[in-house]
Amino acid sequence: MRKKLKIINIVGARPNFMKIAPIMRAYMHHRDIEPVLVHTGQHYDEKMSDLFFKELEIPQPDINLEVGSASHAVQTAEIMKAFEPVVLEHKPDAVLVVGDVNSTIACGLVTVKLGIKLVHVEAGLRSGDRTMPEEINRILTDSISDLLFCTEQSGVDNLLKEGIAQDKIHFTGNVMIDTLLKNAKKAEDSNILGRFNLEKKNYAVVTLHRPSNVDNPSIFSGILESLNVIQSDIPVIFPVHPRTRQNIKKFSGNNLLEKMPDLHLIDPLGYLDFLKLMSNARVVLTDSGGIQEETTILKVPCLTLRENTERPVTTVLGSNCIVGTNPDMIIGAYKRLSAGDWHKSSIPPLWDGNAAERIVKILLDKL
Ligand code: UD1
Repeated sequence: MRKKLKIINIVGARPNFMKIAPIMRAYMHHRDIEPVLVHTGQHYDEKMSDLFFKELEIPQPDINLEVGSASHAVQTAEIMKAFEPVVLEHKPDAVLVVGDVNSTIACGLVTVKLGIKLVHVEAGLRSGDRTMPEEINRILTDSISDLLFCTEQSGVDNLLKEGIAQDKIHFTGNVMIDTLLKNAKKAEDSNILGRFNLEKKNYAVVTLHRPSNVDNPSIFSGILESLNVIQSDIPVIFPVHPRTRQNIKKFSGNNLLEKMPDLHLIDPLGYLDFLKLMSNARVVLTDSGGIQEETTILKVPCLTLRENTERPVTTVLGSNCIVGTNPDMIIGAYKRLSAGDWHKSSIPPLWDGNAAERIVKILLDKL
């Protein structure tokens, strides 16, 4: 009988949790895999981490490295220092990382330096913008991975262009969408609309956390200017990421915010509440990557407040539009979609809820 495949799986920051959940579940159907779950502790607040484990039924991590927040260099270095002994002790056959956060590259680097195979889920995405910390994490992680799983064709094309061997690359679909489809029914029970007195299709949702938006006072205030116009038309619900919350305080944007009675700044939401909120919104304005994909599946218009996207399929087939951060552009797009002038969208190939199962089958075959 074949020896069990031991795979260490890494999570660290909020967007990792929805990606790992279906993979951990798929392992349960394959008894010849022994998964170990490691949480780096990059995100640690109840609302940024624990809540997702509960709602998405992710098993408790076997190990928590508890690194917490710090500068990029310190955070990455702390994760590497704490993760190396884990790999040495567990001697896995492979380490699987997801997404593009600092935990992804930090654990990836430790893995390959110890001569262990590295698997990257959500490989090949490229924004072309090297000032984004995530873009550096993506390029580096992909360049050292042994197996690369892509969510869209552009990912495959980017990897081939970068000289990655074709037999390492697999187009398997989107694990984040596996999670969305599995939880869509459960999310219907959320009472979030009632809690904020919202009518379906008559409110907007905003999320912002990219350093390029929220660490820059002039860009941030331009975005707030456009939100001011939107909230004079419909309520705007803004679950605020901790980084953004700190900057709102720092820039004393509170004064401006107080003048916007229908802009509602709330704590970060759990997965189910947020899914219900997005599903029924007239529009979502965001600088997140994952939300561009989720709104595509939900067919809710998404205005991406960035100059580029690493997920082009969401604009070509999906409901997403890259509008940037200029208030006139944001307001113009909002007015168009409110008037019913928005492009028709469709679901990208293989975003069908079965990506994790495909990935696990390939792992069994190739590792
Ligand atoms: C990280 C990821 C980003 C991802 C985002 C999702 C990197 C480079 N960035 O950015 O790709 O889209 O997560 O949220 O990995 N903080 C808390 N509580 C927490 C976590 C963070 O208060 O549980 C605060 C800390 O003060 C910290 C700040 O938020 O300094 C930013 O956290 P950090 O993990 O450095 O980066 P994010 O901006 O969250």
